Order: sequence, then C-alpha cells, then structure tokens
Amino acid sequence: MAVQINPSILSADFSRLAEEAKAVEGADWLHVDVMDNHFVPNLTLGVPVVESLSRATDIPLDCHLMIDDPDRWAPQYVEAGAGSVTFHAEAAAAPVRLAREIRAKGARASMALKPATPIEPYEDLLPELDMLLIMTVEPGFGGQAFLDIMLPKIRRTRELIAKHGLELWLQVDGGVSEATIERCAEAGADVFVAGSAVYSASDPAQAVGSLRDKAARTIATAGWACHH
Ligand code: DX5
Ligand code: ZN
Repeated sequence: MAVQINPSILSADFSRLAEEAKAVEGADWLHVDVMDNHFVPNLTLGVPVVESLSRATDIPLDCHLMIDDPDRWAPQYVEAGAGSVTFHAEAAAAPVRLAREIRAKGARASMALKPATPIEPYEDLLPELDMLLIMTVEPGFGGQAFLDIMLPKIRRTRELIAKHGLELWLQVDGGVSEATIERCAEAGADVFVAGSAVYSASDPAQAVGSLRDKAARTIATAGWACHH
C-alpha cells in the first residue's frame, strides 16, 4: 500500500493558488479545505475556485468539505473536477446515499470524523467509502497542534479495515508534520494531509518528499502493514 501525501492549500497563498499547486510537484493529491462558516468557524472557498483550480493543475483535487448540508452540495464538487470528495459524518443526513452519489458521478467517496466522533457506529458503512478521514485537530484552522489522543481511533479503524478486507484508504488531517507523521503511520494511516508543514517549508516539494520517506519507512515495519 503506497503512502500518499496531500498538501493542504489552506496554508498556501490564496492569491496564487496555481503557482502554489506547482510548488508541490510530486504530491499525490492537493487537499482543498472548503469551509462555510457554519459547520466550522471559518470561511474559505467554494465550487468556482475548485473549478478554476482543477483546470490550473494536473494534481488531482482532494476536497474536504467542512460544511453543513453536504447532501446538497458535495455532488457539485465532483462536477467541478474533484477526484475525491470528503463529507463530514456529523453533517450528512444520508451518508450512504451521498457516498453512492459521489461514486456514481465518478469521484472517490470519503467520510470524515471530528475528534469526538467514534468510528464504531460507522463500521457497516465502510464498504460504501473509498477513504475515511480521521481529524487529528478540531476542524477549522491550519497550524494547530496534533491530537495524540486520536491515535487509538486510527488504530481501531485500521483493524476494522483489515477485519472486513477493505481497500479503504485511511487519511489523517491536522498537525501532521515531520514530528508526528511516524506516529500516524505506525497507528495505521496511509494518506497524510499536511498544510503548514509543507507550505511553511522553504522548499515545499522537498517537504512532501521528506514526509513521504518518513511515513513509508514507518509503514514498512508497522505491524498493520506486514499482516496485509
Ligand atoms: C483543518 C483542515 C486541515 C488543515 C491542516 O481544519 O482540515 O486540512 O489545512 O493544516 P495543518 O497541517 O497545518 O494542521
Ligand atoms: Zn482538511
């Protein structure tokens, strides 16, 4: 299972998004944080910006919707060019229907959990998803400190993925850096979002490579990956 590194443009310069995408050449996905000032206390961008960005870069877009009523809005992000669309479990009225709609429109369907939301109630939904996102900070802002207390949830989720024999990707988002990525990888994550750790580096593309090497080395020796 290949490690994937997804730089978050929340930490980029919003007036130069196309150039900021070029600055992370080699990234697997570009993580696009959509915030509506209701689900989280911050406001970022929406469908028109995703549409423009998808034309401006060859890196596929991983849209993380921190918005109310994703049932209504998420399909539009697929139409805007997103290759993966993540809605929040706490906000979706009908997550199974929504995941099926995202897949039917041709994108990868993903669901996110805030720190206080457990994975266990969603065990039966996992086959409907291509990725599960475990937030390792309270969503809303970049540059927050990684929540170590989320590591057991990452571990339990990895066990559920193995138990059901799923191909599901397990993404972590929030405070992921050179200092924390090994803990995430060891616990079972294989897709890593990094905002400030990438865009505050003097060479963002090199920061992506270095995060990837660290995670890959850890996963190569991690118990969960060896049994796979
Ligand atoms: C936070 C966003 C994250 C954020 C991560 O709500 O979902 O994607 O950009 O930023 P860092 O990596 O700086 O914690
Ligand atoms: Zn995010």
